[in-house]
Amino acid sequence: MTEMVNNAIDHSEGRQVSVLIERNALRTTVRVSDDGEGIFHRIQRLMGLYDPRESILELAKGKLTTDPARHSGEGVFFSSRMFDRFSIMSRNLLFSHEAASDDWLIEGEGEGEVSGTTVSMTLANDSAHTTKGVFDAFAAPEEYTFAKTIVPVRLAQHEGEKLVSRSQAKRLTMRFERFQTVVLDFAGVEEIGQAFADEVFRVFQASHPGLEMLPIHLSEGVRNMIARAQAA
Ligand SMILES: Nc1ncnc2c1ncn2[C@@H]1O[C@H](COP(=O)(O)OP(=O)(O)OP(=O)(O)O)[C@@H](O)[C@H]1O
Ligand SMILES: [Mg+2]
Repeated sequence: MTEMVNNAIDHSEGRQVSVLIERNALRTTVRVSDDGEGIFHRIQRLMGLYDPRESILELAKGKLTTDPARHSGEGVFFSSRMFDRFSIMSRNLLFSHEAASDDWLIEGEGEGEVSGTTVSMTLANDSAHTTKGVFDAFAAPEEYTFAKTIVPVRLAQHEGEKLVSRSQAKRLTMRFERFQTVVLDFAGVEEIGQAFADEVFRVFQASHPGLEMLPIHLSEGVRNMIARAQAA
């Protein structure tokens, strides 16, 4: 929670931040809201991304910061993986992660009037991760987490579009070189196109020989496309 309050103070350029804590018999939810620029639009603007939804993919990769002199881009990465449910609502976009099903989601809801950023974090009262454990992990993340990331590839599929082009592949592999190992989680991705597979698994891999890419949760079609690209 401290991390998200600090984010509002450091990054939002808003005037107010509010914290709401809701606890019932089952779970505790903390909601941190600010009235600033909005996280996805801010990242889009400062990083020159073509769409605010791209910001969500970049946040999921980790090590994403728009202020590298003072930050390292870990807050959202770790929070999104440690709570039972984590979501960020900003403008018309919702980004959420459900730990139990490891389900990542992006949703757009037409024209959003909600300005600023609202981060919601839920922990079951009997959760395996204790609040202390979560905060300890924030304070001192293990070494390997700097070197390795897990990228939910489905977040690159906007509105269910298929991953077919080299430009989609380049968006996916952007900033991969900051890690030693990138696990590519293809859960929820039924098919990919030949040019997309070739760009990621042959062209990009050849230009980054020291980077280990590990594709997981492959459908038969995706597995075949990757094998073909790697054999070419
Ligand atoms: N409340 C917010 N309003 C606007 N932008 C935000 C907000 N919170 C985060 N951001 C943007 O998201 C980026 C990632 O946030 P995150 O907490 O993951 O990393 P960081 O704050 O830059 O670094 P660290 O948390 O490691 O100090 C920030 O650099 C900033 O661009
Ligand atoms: Mg932060």
